[in-house]
Order: sequence, then structure tokens, then C-alpha cells
Amino acid sequence: DKGNHRHFMEKEIHEQPEVISHTLAHYLDFVEGTTRALDLPFEFKNLDRIALSACGTAFLASSIGKYWFERLARLPVDADIASEFRYREMPLSKNSAALFVSQSGETADTLASLRYCRREGIPIGAIVNVRGSTIAREADVTLPTLAGPEIGVASTKAFTCQLSVLASLAVRAGVERGTISPEQERVLVRHLAEAPRYASQVLKLESQIEAVAHELARYRHVLYLGRDTNYPLAMEGALKLKEISYIHAEGYAAGELKHGPIALIDEKMPVIVIAPHDRIFEKTVSNMQEVAARGGKIILITDKKGAEHATINAMETIVLPDVPEIITPIIYSLPIQMLAYFTAVVMGTDVDQPRNLAKSVTVE
Ligand code: F6R
Repeated sequence: DKGNHRHFMEKEIHEQPEVISHTLAHYLDFVEGTTRALDLPFEFKNLDRIALSACGTAFLASSIGKYWFERLARLPVDADIASEFRYREMPLSKNSAALFVSQSGETADTLASLRYCRREGIPIGAIVNVRGSTIAREADVTLPTLAGPEIGVASTKAFTCQLSVLASLAVRAGVERGTISPEQERVLVRHLAEAPRYASQVLKLESQIEAVAHELARYRHVLYLGRDTNYPLAMEGALKLKEISYIHAEGYAAGELKHGPIALIDEKMPVIVIAPHDRIFEKTVSNMQEVAARGGKIILITDKKGAEHATINAMETIVLPDVPEIITPIIYSLPIQMLAYFTAVVMGTDVDQPRNLAKSVTVE
């Protein structure tokens, strides 16, 4: 049931404040301001590496998770595309653990990667949305995303719930490994707890984002740029746009611009820049200047501080609230999803059932 929404995707975008809140509450104790102890088949403090593998949007959530685990818990992570991981014969030490991320819990390549790790004898956790799914059953432990059923083929709420689980786990890993003090834990848990409220605020930007989508729908190619966790998010933005609007899009690390993609920049290829005002904001401003100097049109997704400090003439600026650093990937997912959604609506495509795609990819 779509309720009063035109599409399941729109409904699922709007459910995010609630399902993020449910998911976080499973991993965090908001009253105590702590992460919950989990019954895991390994100890974070004994690990030397985590292998994270998944497909599509779940892979991009994993790629953001890598930044969190490495930064907060000083724990190295390999984030891999499952179709590559399953054949790569990656050496796994006995002190590694494997985590698989999947909405459906049935994705063939992700399941095959899980079975590879099983043969290698390392502990296995699964971050899945569908309870009782094959991946959930074959893992040693299931770490649920509480997104509820996701009907739209393009993943939205499952993605932000995957991010919520990965962020919570990374904080927990940091606590157990001693890289996060009890005081820092309280601050991080408080910041995560604010995600649903900020997500609700961002949903109110709908009419502005819809107007930007009318502009975007006039182009055939779009480039997304970001640094740090906004780099995988740039790839997620590009994936979302191409799968439902059929506009060709690519996501790049902003620093890679001058190593190739800048050759593509002209007035016919808008560049969507995802750049909150963080410690590397100025670097991204330089990239935007490079784009502007070549006649490229910029759609900037930033916060209030970023909008003040961006010394470029953007075609459009979407201004989000200033949010704590740890939740930026979760909050910045929303304008990315809304932009793809409204662009597809303008293009008149089948938003919930895009051509050639299936919700659950059970064949290789
Ligand atoms: C994109 C999308 C796909 C899935 C991918 C993995 O919007 O939905 O890229 O993320 O097919 O599916 P799951 O998470 O079910 O393993």
C-alpha cells in the first residue's frame, strides 16, 4: 500500500526518519548514551581486519562503513564488490571477520562470498533486512536493519538503515578497541540519535529538490563528486539516478577530477557536488572552481556554512542543516535519493519497476 504517495519509492524515502530511529535503537541505548554489547562470533579487539562485501547500493553502504571503522576503531576494512570478492581468493588471516550487507539476503554473489569465507573458517556476520533470508540463516550472527519491507527496486530506506548499523558497529568497535573513550562514545551516540530529526528536516526540502530535478532532467550525462564518505555517496547518487531516470551518471572522488573526468566537462554535463563544510571542504571548492572554469554547471549539496564559504557561482545550491560529522552520510543520502526520484518522475519512467532490473538478484 502506497498510502498517499505516488510511488513506493517516495513512500520509502519518507519512512526514513522512523526506520532509522528503529534501527539505531536496536544498537544504541539512547538513555545511557552508550552502544549496546552485541553477541558476536568474534571480539573487535582481537581483529586485524574486516572483509565487507556486498553488491550495488549495499556495497556503497559498505564503502562508507570502511571510513567509519578505520577512523573510529582504527580497524582496517576491505570493502569489496561481492562478484569480485567471490573469485579473488583474498588471503584472510585467522584474526579477520567477514561482514555481508544485503537488503534481500538472497543476492547470489553476496551469498557465494559468504560461503567462501565459511570455507576459509572465519567468523561471519550479516547485515540484512529480510529476516530468515538465506544470507541471514547462513551467517553466524545477523545484524538486522529494521527498514521494514522495501518494495521500490531502487534501494532507499534499506541503504540509510545499513549506514545506521555500520556507524553504530564502528562506534562499538572503537569502544571495545579503546580508540573511543566513554566520553566520546556518549557524544557519538547523541549525534547518531539526532539523525531521524535531521532526516525529517531534509524531507521538507522536497519542493526545492523537485525544482532542481526539472533542471537536471534536461541533461543526458551527470557527474557526481565527493570526498571522504561523500565519495561512495557520489557513486550512490549516480547509481540511483541512472537506474531510475536512465540518465547516464558517474560518481567520482573529487580529487580524481583532474586525472581524467575533467575532459568531459562542458555546459552539457552538470556536476553534482556533495560537500558539507568539513575539514576538506576547501579542497572540494578548488575542484568546483576547476569545473566552473570549463563552463560546467554545478549543483552543490552542502550545509549553511558550506553555502557561505563556497566561492563559486553554482547553478543550484541545496542547503541542508549543519549536522554532526558522523551522520552526514545518512542525512546527505536523502537529497540524493529525492533528486533521482523527482528526475525520474519528470522523465516519466517507471520509478518503482525500472526496466531490466529486479529487486532480488538471485542469479549470478
Ligand atoms: C540499487 C539497488 C541494488 C541492490 C543490490 C544488492 O538501488 O537496489 O544495487 O542494492 O542488488 O541487493 P541486496 O541488498 O538485496 O543484496
